[in-house]
Amino acid sequence: MLTIAIEAAKEAGKFLKYSVGRVKNIEVKQGEERNLVSEIDKGSEAKIIGIIKRHYPHHAILAEESGASDTSSDYKWVIDPLDGTTNFLHGLPIFCVTIGIEYKGEIVAGVVYDPNTEELFTAEKGAGAYLNGKRLKVSTSTTLIGSLLVTGFPYDIAQNPDNAIGHFVNFVVEAQGLRRLGSAALDLSYVAAGRFDGFWEVNLNPWDMAAGILFVREAGGRVTDFAGAESTIYKKQVLASNGAIHDSMLRILSKGFAR
Ligand code: IPD
Ligand code: CA
Ligand code: CA
Repeated sequence: MLTIAIEAAKEAGKFLKYSVGRVKNIEVKQGEERNLVSEIDKGSEAKIIGIIKRHYPHHAILAEESGASDTSSDYKWVIDPLDGTTNFLHGLPIFCVTIGIEYKGEIVAGVVYDPNTEELFTAEKGAGAYLNGKRLKVSTSTTLIGSLLVTGFPYDIAQNPDNAIGHFVNFVVEAQGLRRLGSAALDLSYVAAGRFDGFWEVNLNPWDMAAGILFVREAGGRVTDFAGAESTIYKKQVLASNGAIHDSMLRILSKGFAR
């Protein structure tokens, strides 16, 4: 299955890269003025689902643009055909394809493919996480002042700014550096690769995190909600770190949204 996920992610990724600057139809999603979708998101998703269905016609699918299939199966493919849509639409080369494979409710394999850097992140539960075939290990930083952190802002930030801005302000004065790349799947992949020491975000969807959470765990990191409880891809809070700075990050997140 991982081989098929890789084939689908690469095929879709090539299409995304080719499509930069060729977008014809941009729509706003569900009345959220910042949440955009184009025919390229949909085309990428159709390619991925086509490949999966050819090999596993009876598996269930949960995909960002077409939703949940009505198939009942122990296997569910959780797909974001373009993570980093806003970047993509501006021609900023920070976006990817991400696919997670769930078995009986647990993510057992995942892939993230970045067509701009040709970086392919993969993992199978219990067998480690890899970047272009090289085993990944989270960073060894033990302090926030020695850490490079990353976060993202939800599309409803104008309606609910404290969710993201309060935590951002609290972290920016504690960390060595703080980034906002615009692709949650790459943020998580980079924590697994040791490029970032920690990542948090609110209101992500299962497809943003399905592969990335597995990468972080398989690379030796820790993933929880903001209260320190084990995270799943269906929770609305995610904190992923190298493990060593996790409690320090939980302490900052517990300060809440005071500005
Ligand atoms: C978004 C990106 C972004 C995150 C948003 C996501 P999309 O996904 O992952 O980094 O901050 O919350 O919705 O819409 O580009 O697939
Ligand atoms: Ca996404
Ligand atoms: Ca998307």
